[in-house]
Amino acid sequence: MRKPFVAGNWKMNTNSSSSIELAERIASGTMEASGSVTMTVCPPFVYLQSVAQALSTSSVGVGAQDVYYEAKGAFTGEISPSMLKDIGCTYCLCGHSERRHVIGETDELINKKVTAAIAGGLLPILCVGELLAEREASQTNGVVTRHVKNGLAGLSAEKASAVTIAYEPVWAIGTGLTATPQQAQDVHDFIRKLLAQMYDDKLAEEIRILYGGSAKPNNAADLMGQPDIDGLLVGGASLKADDFLAIIQAAM
Ligand code: PGA
Repeated sequence: MRKPFVAGNWKMNTNSSSSIELAERIASGTMEASGSVTMTVCPPFVYLQSVAQALSTSSVGVGAQDVYYEAKGAFTGEISPSMLKDIGCTYCLCGHSERRHVIGETDELINKKVTAAIAGGLLPILCVGELLAEREASQTNGVVTRHVKNGLAGLSAEKASAVTIAYEPVWAIGTGLTATPQQAQDVHDFIRKLLAQMYDDKLAEEIRILYGGSAKPNNAADLMGQPDIDGLLVGGASLKADDFLAIIQAAM
């Protein structure tokens, strides 16, 4: 049985006081879910430590929105896995679509980040998903195959078991256009079968695959009711404590 997992991606939002306020409201609203749902929030780097502190008495973990693959040195502006571990981070997003399509990250770079994150003791959430034009050209499975295979390249089954996959169709992110539960389920099923081919049935059964893209309180239960949707990566709705808590409630 895969435990449901709800992660909030705050993106480049909040400030020093609103990040703590949001974290405190999430901490106080999630006591009931603590045993049954894995929960994390991914604030901007500069608020990670204070948010981790605000969540320290809760079972909500903290994740980074990105990570660099080198351990230390002359990499101006970058943050290493050991720095993230040091301030209490458990998870890190790798290859979020905004990093792929706005910042220009390649599969090769994302693979280095996933590999370094695992080596550094973090649990990566590898984001994959197609653009609208790719879906319309029936390339969804091909794009997702490339993102998953390249993202996990060189990782043993043991290492890959540290990874959570997030299927986030780019056309659904921040647009209010959610994939239907069936559209999402089809891709999740495809990814799970791909993992079984790449590794084995055990890994494919155990790995959690989250859906992301305009996940909201009103669609969370239907999405998570699908057999291969193990949770949600929530952007916009994770910035409103009530909405994020309602989504966690739907995961219980
Ligand atoms: P959204 O973002 O929920 O605002 O669509 C999801 C994400 O980018 O992770």
